[in-house]
Amino acid sequence: MTLHLEGDGFLVIEETESTQRLAEKLLTECQNPPGAVFAHHQTQGKGRHGRAWLSSRGDSLTMSLIFSENPDTPQPWLIGMAVACAAAGLFHCQVRWPNDLVFRERKLGGVLTELLPNAQGRQVPVVGIGINLNQKGFPEDLAPIATSLRLAHPGSALGDDAEWEPLKVARRLAERVSEFPMPTSWADLRPIWGLFDATQGKEFKLGDGRTARAIGIGPNGELLAEADGEPTLVHAADALFGPGSR
Ligand code: BTN
Repeated sequence: MTLHLEGDGFLVIEETESTQRLAEKLLTECQNPPGAVFAHHQTQGKGRHGRAWLSSRGDSLTMSLIFSENPDTPQPWLIGMAVACAAAGLFHCQVRWPNDLVFRERKLGGVLTELLPNAQGRQVPVVGIGINLNQKGFPEDLAPIATSLRLAHPGSALGDDAEWEPLKVARRLAERVSEFPMPTSWADLRPIWGLFDATQGKEFKLGDGRTARAIGIGPNGELLAEADGEPTLVHAADALFGPGSR
């Protein structure tokens, strides 16, 4: 997957509202936008379905990857799913459709895929990644459903003092993504996704309030689910996972 990461292609900033919003600004203002935007701290992180994404300085990885070489791509969600697979390989965790990173059923991180306009008005895929790195615990409401790399893999940090260093991990992840093959169809990605998949059998809520159970992934990367005894295909924007979502 082509990402402009060399030289000033990996932008590091101290603090921003959201790396997604900063990426949006850079896309319209720069002729040659960076391939990665990393923030040591986000004050208004954004999750899927308009939810807030909470992170804490030094304990979280917050980064957006800008796929400038792939404007107007017909199936942008496949890029988000591929980024999740690249991350799952690096962090020894699983993926849950559409692109949650999970370890033993608990959420370790999330991926948000957006199409954002560049200076030429073309829609560029921007994939935001948030990973819990060094948290030793979570607030009461999140504790049963969230985890961190520190809790999942104690003693294996990529940094000093058994800490996962956010910037170091982010660089490693961006490199990994850039080495990953760009999927042009679900058929390309299916064998890799299958290595990490933890979706099957999970219950989730549809936009219309019905509960459905995941059966597998459909022909274009949609979720194949069963609701009221009927098979149904669900697009990423329409499904809200129940237990385990945050
Ligand atoms: C989810 O809801 O699971 C997706 C969370 C994505 C969070 C990341 S953190 C970096 C980037 N900037 C944001 O504001 N959101 C994404």
